[in-house]
Amino acid sequence: MDLRTEFIQKFGREPEIVARAPGRVNLLGEHVDYNDGPVLPVALDKAVSIAAAPSEDDVVNLYALDLGEQVTFRLSALEDKISLDGSPLPNWAHYPAGIAWAILDAGFEVCGLQAVYTSDIPIGAGLSSSAAVEVGFAVLWQSLGGWLLERMKLAQLCQRAENIYVGVECGLMDQFASACGVEGHALYFDTQNLYWEALPLLPGKAIIVADSGVRRDLTSSAYNERRASCDQAVELLRNYLPNIRSLRDVSPTEMAALGYYLPLIVKRRAEHVVREIARVQSAVSALKRADDSALGALMFSGHASLRDLYEVSTPELDALVDIARELPGCVGARLTGAGFGGCTVNLVEQTTTGEFTAGLQSIYLEQTGRETAVYLCQASDGAQTEKF
Ligand code: GLA
Repeated sequence: MDLRTEFIQKFGREPEIVARAPGRVNLLGEHVDYNDGPVLPVALDKAVSIAAAPSEDDVVNLYALDLGEQVTFRLSALEDKISLDGSPLPNWAHYPAGIAWAILDAGFEVCGLQAVYTSDIPIGAGLSSSAAVEVGFAVLWQSLGGWLLERMKLAQLCQRAENIYVGVECGLMDQFASACGVEGHALYFDTQNLYWEALPLLPGKAIIVADSGVRRDLTSSAYNERRASCDQAVELLRNYLPNIRSLRDVSPTEMAALGYYLPLIVKRRAEHVVREIARVQSAVSALKRADDSALGALMFSGHASLRDLYEVSTPELDALVDIARELPGCVGARLTGAGFGGCTVNLVEQTTTGEFTAGLQSIYLEQTGRETAVYLCQASDGAQTEKF
């Protein structure tokens, strides 16, 4: 059944509008967006789709099709995080409710609505399924409310919802990619000054995402912990470099000289960040001169750093990268997103994608006893709305 039919069945009337917001994969620049670093994401052709119609009152009635769950809440009770019957909002509803909260807080209009939504972005797999929900609801309420916010501001509003309402201290990369994606392009995004540009992807190369099938709990606490280590590194390094504001302001040479003064774990985390920032700058010039082997090598070393220094990989993600490296046509591979399970991103010769996929699946199964879902991805545009 399509989304329109689902909506009619659920609410007994026609939906007025559909919003679509993509997930993302990150080619390079992991765990640097909360350190003022640059990132290199790609908006995917996997997305959240929301069919909706405004209601007369201030009640939001949401049906999450993939979960088979429905929730109803009042815009006037957002702060309490409760549904209409007084029970606590389920976790999944914090994302749309958080968006309504952030929009109202920014002084724009939010209407009550009925909505059905679905997603083909695997959940919790490091492909920004939550940012896509946030950006999807933001563009939806924007269209219905008749106000217009610049895309970067919209992404920041969504980040605020996640930081404050949901309680995950994420950076801006995921919401940015979902809001600003460009078909056929990677997005170079500098989180220090918000400069961004779309860079054409390498000709003849495909992006393949492989899901390790592993999801780790406590992702958000481990994530917030990494973030705290970075803040601690900045604080301690300020004793020697008084003008730094973030790890972005520390060069690899300074890091090599001063790392000695940091506690071991903090040193490792900071080393990853400082070198990963340098890798992104090199990756941009590799992309611009279409040097695929340079880009691939940077991806492999980015993975090693996430495994050894930032310690956010898993044995399954390591296996996927090690297997990919030996397969025909593989240019580069690494874990993508926050880590702690989830997916790898692979850059592969277009002519060998079939062989690559089959090899990855069979060897991964042999080595780990697990299946891997593999997606051949296209770079897509950012979030959009359309009238039915
Ligand atoms: C998550 C966060 C992003 C970013 C990545 C790691 O996806 O939402 O802001 O920090 O992890 O690079």
